[in-house]
Amino acid sequence: MATVVIVGAQWGDEGKGKVVDLYTANADMVVRYAGGPNAGHTLVVGGEKTIVRLVPSGILHEQTSCVLGQGMVIDPTVLLAEIEMLDKRGVTARKRLWVSDRAHVILPYHIIVDSLRESGLNAIGTTKRGVGPCYEDKIARRGVTIGTLMDAQKTQKAVEQALSAWAPVVAALGGSLPTVAEVTDKLGAIREELAPMVCDAAKRVHEAIVAKKNILMEGAQGTLLDIDHGTYPFVTSSTATAGGACTGAGIGPTQIDAVVGLVKAYTTRVGGGPFPTELNDATGERLRQRGGEFGSVTGRPRRTGWLDLPALRYATRINGLNGFAFTKLDVLSGEDTLQVCTSYKVNGKVTDDLPLDGIAEPVYETFAGWKEDLSSCSSMESLPGAARDYVRMVEKALGIPAWLVGTGQERAATIVTHDPMVR
Ligand code: IMP
Repeated sequence: MATVVIVGAQWGDEGKGKVVDLYTANADMVVRYAGGPNAGHTLVVGGEKTIVRLVPSGILHEQTSCVLGQGMVIDPTVLLAEIEMLDKRGVTARKRLWVSDRAHVILPYHIIVDSLRESGLNAIGTTKRGVGPCYEDKIARRGVTIGTLMDAQKTQKAVEQALSAWAPVVAALGGSLPTVAEVTDKLGAIREELAPMVCDAAKRVHEAIVAKKNILMEGAQGTLLDIDHGTYPFVTSSTATAGGACTGAGIGPTQIDAVVGLVKAYTTRVGGGPFPTELNDATGERLRQRGGEFGSVTGRPRRTGWLDLPALRYATRINGLNGFAFTKLDVLSGEDTLQVCTSYKVNGKVTDDLPLDGIAEPVYETFAGWKEDLSSCSSMESLPGAARDYVRMVEKALGIPAWLVGTGQERAATIVTHDPMVR
């Protein structure tokens, strides 16, 4: 048995879906511990591609139960639509999906506030799903938890309180809010549908640990979007780093056996904020097209750039990574040479530390590229020499091994050197 945390080491979109899917083959339980419908995982169900934002991708494996932990913010309308869509495709989610009674509920006014702010001067490029304002309500101790939602009277009171707190904010932003009745009228049907899935999720996870089950803690977004450790204020509002697995799923640090970082072979970012290795040129566009770098939730083109080793060393440290999954190496095939940022220059001084404002000039080293298609490479030895050297260079720079290398979109196009779920 093992409890393994999987966490994005960059700005999210590192190719989590495929890796989580692979690790879930050996998981009895998958727990999402942070974030909400701002995430997007592409699933292939019955030959059809579909995107889930809340339900963990582990739902496709019949033996796996899936838990939405208390660190999450959940839009119940989105959740129920995903369950219905999965139902239609023959995946019965209801009996294997558990929702924490302590998770917070995204309600229409959160989405209104998020969208109004994003049309103003202080926009940071959020996904406009109401995630930030919902976490604001949580921290301000006026949020509606899933547990509250199960009680009509308590919900009424909590919504009244939240709406009166948001009223001046929304008025100042030039918008308008729904009435209490407009919000609560729709919640009756939602309550009934959700009720059988609502539980004390931390207890359920604990029971699975005691029963020596294999558990995968699925992070969302990435280290550099973490509310505490990311490029603040251009971050999401949750603990996206490995520490979030403890608070967001309700386990102690001693119960985690391994932390795997997801590292894409180059870097991307969606939304505003610093990005030292960004490429605003033909190479950046090539990476975007070859890597299919368009947001799965919003469709926005992702910003692209070279690999950033100081940022990855930071992620290795903050998450206590034991190993990493190196994704989308195939996207770099065809480049004559590869630039890799090995340190930053800040105010003329070479440093490994990204300053608080994130403004740093990358110092690059050039590595040889390769032309071969990697998708048929089934071992590290079968990779072209330059591709293998690239992986080894990252292992050396981070001081941890590559446990997995992604060489193409297909599930089979993956080199696995170690599976932390198998002990
Ligand atoms: P929010 O999480 O919607 O509030 O957005 C805050 C920032 O996090 C924005 O820059 C978003 O683009 C970014 N973000 C949120 N979720 C994801 C994700 O799943 N992948 C990549 N970026 C994300």
